[in-house]
Amino acid sequence: MRSKAQNFRVNGQAVSFDQDPDTPLLWVLRDHLQLTGSKFGCGGGHCGACTVHVDGQMQRSCVLPVSAVAGTEISTIEGLAKGDRLHPVQQAWLELDVPQCGYCQAGQIMATVDLLKRLPDPTDQQIDEQLTNLCRCATYVRLRKAVHRAAELMAAEDKA
Ligand code: FES
Ligand code: FES
Repeated sequence: MRSKAQNFRVNGQAVSFDQDPDTPLLWVLRDHLQLTGSKFGCGGGHCGACTVHVDGQMQRSCVLPVSAVAGTEISTIEGLAKGDRLHPVQQAWLELDVPQCGYCQAGQIMATVDLLKRLPDPTDQQIDEQLTNLCRCATYVRLRKAVHRAAELMAAEDKA
């Protein structure tokens, strides 16, 4: 017998998932919706490779059962650009050529969007304390510079 469907929205599209309600959201995104930008890293809520936003709040989707997101609005890296207009955080990432292998970077970008909503002009220390996503390629110096650049771009957008 099928479970009761979990209904939610992903990047503005309605989704109904009627399989095991304990399925981690990351599996639903990657395997059922083919949104493979969010990555599986540790599977235990530590590395942040799977970071998405649920009702505007950053969440690690590998440890979030799909039953916990019923009725919510989820945003993933695939929904961040508006048409062909990149989000300022994506623009900053490109300008500073942040990725090395790239595996962690969707999660880093989603975590940075969340950080800049809470702290529009963070210090280096705040970035180090609050951006806790891991990068096996150790792109941390470029990451920090890109967070500052994204903050500048977002401030300029707000003034325009
Ligand atoms: S894969 Fe989710 S936190 Fe590492
Ligand atoms: S760029 Fe390779 S893990 Fe971060």
